[in-house]
Amino acid sequence: MEKRNIRLAIQKGGRLSEKSLGLLRSCGLEIENYSNRLIVTAKNYELDILFLRDDDIPEYVQDGVADIGIVGQNVAAEKGVEIEYVKELGFSKCQLMIAIPQDYELSDISGLNGKTIATSYPNILKKYLSENNIVAKVIEISGSVEIAPSLGIADFICDIVSTGNTLKGNKLKKSFVVFNSEAVLIGNKAITENPEIQSILNDILGRMDSTIAAKGLKYLMMNVPKTNLDTITEIIPSVKSPSILPLATEDEVAVHTVIQKDKFWAIINDLKSNGATGILLLPIENMIS
Ligand code: PRP
Ligand code: ZN
Repeated sequence: MEKRNIRLAIQKGGRLSEKSLGLLRSCGLEIENYSNRLIVTAKNYELDILFLRDDDIPEYVQDGVADIGIVGQNVAAEKGVEIEYVKELGFSKCQLMIAIPQDYELSDISGLNGKTIATSYPNILKKYLSENNIVAKVIEISGSVEIAPSLGIADFICDIVSTGNTLKGNKLKKSFVVFNSEAVLIGNKAITENPEIQSILNDILGRMDSTIAAKGLKYLMMNVPKTNLDTITEIIPSVKSPSILPLATEDEVAVHTVIQKDKFWAIINDLKSNGATGILLLPIENMIS
């Protein structure tokens, strides 16, 4: 089989674009500025990146135009295509929700009966409604779904909610969660038949594991008086046992460890009052266990 680059499709200009590129870069791939280009080849890797509309990515992956792609689970599920779900990526988490006008009261799900709901996700929504024994009218709108109620086209909407700002800006509020979503790596079913492509994919997946494992973690370093070492190692919520290193000054040691970054500010005063000095918190790009 001819040797070629693996082809990865990502969203062109949208919620997932920057984070998808960020993930690839933290996997060590050098990707140049892609402004307005459809295909970019990584400088140091056998990978071509295709920039596409996210809604089109599942079909391109199914048809083999791209070998793999990064999309929201919501888009992959809506399209109902024959693809492999390779990996959950842990970013761009959001919910597909029914949203209703701010001044409307909906006490339970039966209140959806007889209503008109506008959405870009008719398949997922219809499945949800039938599972809940609701008879409602679903109308499909491809974009700007949130304006449908104020235009009088629909009573409610069913759309992706991330920060909730879009809903607020359109005087809507959340009601029921239809689908939880995050970015996923999807793959063409025939990938396994091409050993070259499969081996590149395995390498990429390994790199992604190490960046995903490092997410939310920071490297913490400080100098500590030997007399307070036990107290300080108890204060620090280390992910693994800390490293204790000797220093030129005999009464102090260096403590190196990995912590969840959101725990840092809660312990900083305790560290200082126990004599820790030279406290450094550093980013971790990759962690291989
Ligand atoms: C969704 C949705 C809203 C926005 C909500 O679009 O349609 O426009 O995100 O986000 P917020 O709660 O943070 O305001 P999406 O990113 O899926 O893009 P697309 O519909 O253009 O594909
Ligand atoms: Zn889209």
